[in-house]
Amino acid sequence: MDEQSLRNLLTIESEKSIDSIQIFEEIDSTNSESIRQIRTGHTENRVIVASSQTAGRGRRGRQWLSPKNSGIYLSLTRGFSLEANALQALSLVTAISVLEALRDLGAKGLQLKWPNDVLCEGKKLAGILLELQQKEASRFVIFGVGVNIELSADSIERIDRPVTDLGSIVSELPSRTVLLASLLNHLSRNLGEYEVSGFSSFEERWNSLDCYRMSDIEIQNGESRLIGKSLGVDADGSLLLQTEQGTQSINGGEVFPSLRPIAE
Ligand code: BTN
Repeated sequence: MDEQSLRNLLTIESEKSIDSIQIFEEIDSTNSESIRQIRTGHTENRVIVASSQTAGRGRRGRQWLSPKNSGIYLSLTRGFSLEANALQALSLVTAISVLEALRDLGAKGLQLKWPNDVLCEGKKLAGILLELQQKEASRFVIFGVGVNIELSADSIERIDRPVTDLGSIVSELPSRTVLLASLLNHLSRNLGEYEVSGFSSFEERWNSLDCYRMSDIEIQNGESRLIGKSLGVDADGSLLLQTEQGTQSINGGEVFPSLRPIAE
């Protein structure tokens, strides 16, 4: 893969919004490299991609297993003049963009799990890690995206949750360049839309794709556990949980299907 063939597949909007593209064979983490570059003053909008990561990072301090050519490991850095609390909605917009990009390439039956997992038949296909960096008066968001392309049996065994890969879902795998271009094009269009109109235009899109909407779920956040029925997300991207104490708006935590019956 080279920069020019990737640029050739970008929409005008997406091409205009990306100042630089860096492609690495191997790196510790594309998100960590993006943070390092911001800290050393390289603050233009940039894409960093790697064929493998030696210290790929997932949400909640987890590791993101990133062997060579098994997945897409991508970080997009963009300057944003947004409040830090907009990060949650942005991460949902990113998940919608990843799902739409993969669906365009032939993946069927994809769903979202709040706040930002892309699933196929209940198994994780892609994960997103958004990080915020402040440099002087400016704020930068790093959109880290990992998509499983072809996982080895060994990788599947090492990951402590059900996972799937694009190779098991589509009849013909697109090239990495096509995949990356699709991800960047969808992201760039949706982030542009978010900057103009906020999350409200994404609320319905999210709710139609949410795998647990109207299901009983448990939300784990550190030591705390909350159970209730998921009502989907509101216009801010918060998860609405109907509990025995009333409807609560949830801003953090991890969602699991509820194993306990909920009183009607
Ligand atoms: C998750 O836990 O679901 C988020 C996984 C995010 C992984 C991607 S791979 C590219 C980027 N670099 C990282 O170190 N992490 C993100």
